Amino acid sequence: MYVCNCNAVTVKQIKRALSEGCNGYEGICNKLGVGSCCGKCREHACEVIDEHIVEMSSLKTLTTQNTSLAASPNILAAV
Ligand code: FES
Repeated sequence: MYVCNCNAVTVKQIKRALSEGCNGYEGICNKLGVGSCCGKCREHACEVIDEHIVEMSSLKTLTTQNTSLAASPNILAAV
C-alpha cells in the first residue's frame, strides 16, 4: 500500500527503513523522500511510524517474556 504517492513509497519501505535505523518522520523523509512534494502523506506516514514502534515494543516484550521463561528452571521442569 502506498503512503506517499508522489514518491511511490510504500508502508513496507517505511517499516524497513525504520528497522534499518531511520529515526522518525524526519529520517524517513531524508531516506525515502516521503513528504517532500505535496506533503499530503505526512499524517499517514506518522501513523505507519507509530504502528511500527508499537509492533517493535510488542515484539521486544514477547522476546523478554520468553527469555524470562526459559531462564526459570521451575517453569521448564513443569513443562
Ligand atoms: S504524497 Fe507524499 S509528498 Fe505528496
